[in-house]
Amino acid sequence: MENCFALKGNIIWSRTPQALVFAPQHYAVCENGACAGVFAQLPERFASVRVEDLGQRLILPGFVDLHLHAPQYRNAALGYDMELLEWLDALTFHEEARYGEEAYARSAYHAFTQALLCTPTTRACVFATAHTRATLLLMEMLEQSGLETYVGRVNMDRNAPPELAEKDAAWALEQTEDWIERSLARFHRTKPILTPRFAPSCTPELLAGLGALRKRYQLPVQSHLCETIPEIEWVRSLFPDCADYASVYERFGLLSGDTPTIMAHCVYLSDCERQRVKNAGVFIAHCPSSNTNVSSGVAPVRSFLDDGMRLGLGTDVAGGEALNLLREASHAVSVSKLRRVLLGGKEGAVSMDEALYLATRGGGAFFGSAGAFEPGFVFDAVVFDDERLRPAQELTLRQRLEKLFYLGDEREVQAKYVGGRRVL
Ligand code: GUN
Ligand code: FE
Repeated sequence: MENCFALKGNIIWSRTPQALVFAPQHYAVCENGACAGVFAQLPERFASVRVEDLGQRLILPGFVDLHLHAPQYRNAALGYDMELLEWLDALTFHEEARYGEEAYARSAYHAFTQALLCTPTTRACVFATAHTRATLLLMEMLEQSGLETYVGRVNMDRNAPPELAEKDAAWALEQTEDWIERSLARFHRTKPILTPRFAPSCTPELLAGLGALRKRYQLPVQSHLCETIPEIEWVRSLFPDCADYASVYERFGLLSGDTPTIMAHCVYLSDCERQRVKNAGVFIAHCPSSNTNVSSGVAPVRSFLDDGMRLGLGTDVAGGEALNLLREASHAVSVSKLRRVLLGGKEGAVSMDEALYLATRGGGAFFGSAGAFEPGFVFDAVVFDDERLRPAQELTLRQRLEKLFYLGDEREVQAKYVGGRRVL
């Protein structure tokens, strides 16, 4: 059978946020890039397919990073004694400005792409900068890697250093349209996504133009929303006739549409904003490492889950320090426990099972049917060899997953498949 194979091993995936499926010594079958199902015995119709026996290894769905900044990768772990707005000004914008130089962008984006390839991530939504050449270079490298990504040429026409900001809205929109056309013509796995950096760095003219581009090209949108209190106050002063932060994006057609929007953070949504974000079908990218590092706060993820909001995880590198989504998922659990304690038990914590769901199926929904071994889903799989984490220890499958969840990193990733293609 063409394009058909099976991985045999200990297969684990999320059926719902609360229901993890453990399938020890089962077969995950891939047929033409899609999952045909997980079976205890190979069904007759797959009897002749090539089987890769992975022994005692753990096989999980590919992880989905809904929010990260490629041109900040080199700054990972730097400057975390600062809070968000100071950190952006003092460190981040200067680093991003360097991507105007092609040789710098080439070498830094190469390192980023190689590092991302080694993590459990199979799909990601990535911010670049406003430099078109560098952004296309990054897209070329990601395309070659075999990962499935959305990449945004980042729009910003105010409140940024001149070497990073675009000179005005008209120029920014013209350049953005040119970049969209070029990337749609060149890439298959690497798709353009409209990316106003966040409301404070965009004029109303720019936001309005991006709303029009969204309609014309039917593209998704990614940005930041309600990350810190000083940021929210700044938005209020820049857009005095908008009732709240979310309404800035709403006004310009960037929150809801035929294509989905991803909003990173959403730490401080008002009840009214939350309702509108939910109704608009926005994906929230929860980024607990970043929210900790630059002192943003703790997003109410327990209640987002209880409310049935669309939700996934983002490393937000370099707000977050690591590209490893296992670490991000365990941080989601950790910060939710601190929130529970600080709120006197009024809001519950997030469990490991739920955080794994967010890291796979939750974010995977942005890509269609991804993030689980369900029939018809894309076949994205990560093979983990967890020997390092359990020296001479007898553990149940769930205990091995716990070790992997809290202690695992790139060293455990032994192989990776995206849409049925082996990429690592
Ligand atoms: N808000 C606007 N830009 C950024 C960024 O680069 N990182 C984070 N964490 N928040 C932002
Ligand atoms: Fe971010």
